[in-house]
Amino acid sequence: MGQTITVELSSAKKQKPASPALLGFGKYFTDHMFIMNYDQGEGWHHPRIVPYQPILLDPAAKVFHYGQTVFEGMKVYQTLDQRILMFRPAKNIQRLNASNDRLSIPPLNEELVLEALRQLVLIDRDWIPSEQGNSLYIRPFIIATQNTLGVAPSENYQFMIILSPVGSYYEEGINPVSIYVEDQFVRAVPGGMGTAKAGGNYAAGLKAQQLASVKGYSQVLWLDGVHRKYIEEVGSMNVFFKIGNTVLTPALNGSILDGVTRDSVLQLLRHWNIPVQERLISIDELIDAFGSGELVEAFGTGTAAVISPIGELCFQGKKLTLQEGKTGPLAAQVYDVITGIQRGSIPDPFGWAKEL
Ligand code: COI
Repeated sequence: MGQTITVELSSAKKQKPASPALLGFGKYFTDHMFIMNYDQGEGWHHPRIVPYQPILLDPAAKVFHYGQTVFEGMKVYQTLDQRILMFRPAKNIQRLNASNDRLSIPPLNEELVLEALRQLVLIDRDWIPSEQGNSLYIRPFIIATQNTLGVAPSENYQFMIILSPVGSYYEEGINPVSIYVEDQFVRAVPGGMGTAKAGGNYAAGLKAQQLASVKGYSQVLWLDGVHRKYIEEVGSMNVFFKIGNTVLTPALNGSILDGVTRDSVLQLLRHWNIPVQERLISIDELIDAFGSGELVEAFGTGTAAVISPIGELCFQGKKLTLQEGKTGPLAAQVYDVITGIQRGSIPDPFGWAKEL
């Protein structure tokens, strides 16, 4: 690892929310944060944990103009016997470097990132919510800070990690969400950066999400950018469908996110000997399967969203209501096992939950 992380503890403790019910998603932040700088010629240097604070940036910093920035999302949980578990952290850190590569950001030392996460979470451990359904969300991110307006990879960056105690991502809690199948806007195209966890991918989705929200839908389901026909992903999660006895999810095609929860659910379903297919799925196939009664369940997966049942899909005015708008048995079973492993309340045959 090589570099020592310096620590400056905060002299003041921030006010925590009065009740866990107020947490919501990403509204509160803990007492400390991690920062590390990159300067061309010197590499990544000066890793440090400092009190949570605003950062000072030049208005010409490239991140403001050209969006050279990537992020990750991870969670830690407190077990009933006071252990702290992190879910598959190595996979997120590898994905962070894959996103870096796509956006021409210099790679991070993965061991150092893991150590930074570990130390930061331990310092702010009293912020980890203990209630079922709540957790401490970890948001690592990198911004390009060079203050020149030429379009070129930045020569300077800041890598930061902030922590936020969270409840459920959706207002619906663990109840099913309604999703609008988007047929006007697209999120990503093959060869673009859809597979990277880059801020711009989410900015590109805001307009469609805003319009869907006016119609009463929580998020949009993206179709592919070329044919506007094949299912890609939902705003903040990957997506699964149960047709007959088979569970389908879009294959990793270079324009959707390689979700850590997606991968975990696939492994779990295969472990249960449930037939699984990763492949192209067209919206017509879903509509036909709904018509013949074979489309029985749909759910989304993500770090923030965990396992989120989908109660209704709307495509061009046609409403596909699933499980009478209630949580289906497969989504419930997957939710129980994934969250049980994450919280250390059931055995973890995969070795996913890492104790800090
Ligand atoms: C996550 O699931 O961690 C995400 O990054 C989704 C998000 C944009 C809230």
